[in-house]
Amino acid sequence: MKSKFLIANWKSNMKYDDLEPYFKELNNCSKYGIDIKIAVPNIFLLESQKKSNFDIVAQDVEYFKYSSHTGRMSYEHLQDNSIHNVIIGHSEQRIYNDNTNEIINHKVRTLLKEDFRVILCIGEDYETYNNKKTIEFLYDQLENNLKNCDKLMLNNLIIAYEPIWSIGTNTIPSNLEISNIILKIKQKVNVPVLYGGSVNLTNIESLLNGTEGLDGFLIGSGSLVISDFCNMIKIVQDN
Ligand code: PGA
Repeated sequence: MKSKFLIANWKSNMKYDDLEPYFKELNNCSKYGIDIKIAVPNIFLLESQKKSNFDIVAQDVEYFKYSSHTGRMSYEHLQDNSIHNVIIGHSEQRIYNDNTNEIINHKVRTLLKEDFRVILCIGEDYETYNNKKTIEFLYDQLENNLKNCDKLMLNNLIIAYEPIWSIGTNTIPSNLEISNIILKIKQKVNVPVLYGGSVNLTNIESLLNGTEGLDGFLIGSGSLVISDFCNMIKIVQDN
């Protein structure tokens, strides 16, 4: 059986004092056959790395080397600190931090070449969904974001399908819609595909059992309470 991915995305949440109890409980919860990764705010990358038995993930990074870019973090900083997993293209980065498809393509290419594991987020807004243009939109994102990446580089790529209208809203596409989209994404790029957007303890089992081709989840607010996250891990492990 292929192992499933469960990636927690803390976004800009959690305090320093939360790290110790969170990782203590996480390290103790069962995780057979599950690849668990935790995406934390930059300021917690190192401390989390020390406390966690699992991969720590950066929520974004720049594609340039050490240089004069005040307030930015180079991918070389991650390498220097043995962080090898990065989320790229989260819709909150695309929308609020001007991460265009071109910039995302630079990031994905650079990071894959440098042997990072890249979790590339793609997803449509509600208008696109409503106009039934989701697949065209996702294919366009994939084409632009993965330009000039050769097949070999894609070995380290994971795609997270996250419809923007579903993030933090408690509204999710039907299982059938998710299955169809995953199939379409895999027809274009054959890599693990995760679903993200309002995944929580109450819906994870139905998502898991009702969808096809799903390789795991990217979980935002549902991952912040460690007992809930551990219970989700258990559900994924038992199904
Ligand atoms: P959510 O966020 O689970 O809080 O909807 C998911 C994400 O944005 O990665």
